[in-house]
Amino acid sequence: MEIHRYEKLWTAAALLLIVGLIATVTYGALGPGVKMVDDSGGTIDAGSLGDTEFGDPGVTQVGEDQYEVHVVARQFLFQPGTAEPIRVPANSEVTFYVTSPDVVHGFELAGTNVNTMVIPGQVTEVTVRFDEPAQYGIVCHEYCGAGHHTMAGQLVVVP
Ligand code: CUA
Repeated sequence: MEIHRYEKLWTAAALLLIVGLIATVTYGALGPGVKMVDDSGGTIDAGSLGDTEFGDPGVTQVGEDQYEVHVVARQFLFQPGTAEPIRVPANSEVTFYVTSPDVVHGFELAGTNVNTMVIPGQVTEVTVRFDEPAQYGIVCHEYCGAGHHTMAGQLVVVP
């Protein structure tokens, strides 16, 4: 019957859509690009970041090809990142420690799967491998106030 055929067609189309969606999500999580290999963290007193490593945030070399980057995300900038780019070398493993003194922010390296929340009182820890020189936008993807849409920065992976 005619109705039967259309029903089959639409069922097939719907299934195809679901498979395509799953494939897209899987590719996003497992596909090429830099890899988020760890995201644990700790707590911190958001009111006195000045007394911690976040008092003078930035890049610290901790091993031959290992680096730590402390970043303060605040309304409406990343320190460092916004006023000047964060610079790390290629072929390195970089652990980002990100926290906020004010409200919830986001920390996303555009075009990668590095994407996490930044919560006052908590330290977001994300370890990333950078195999090649590149340039990434740092984006705040959590609404954090009137200047949210301007809150962005830059990460440069230098050769
Ligand atoms: Cu910070 Cu949106």
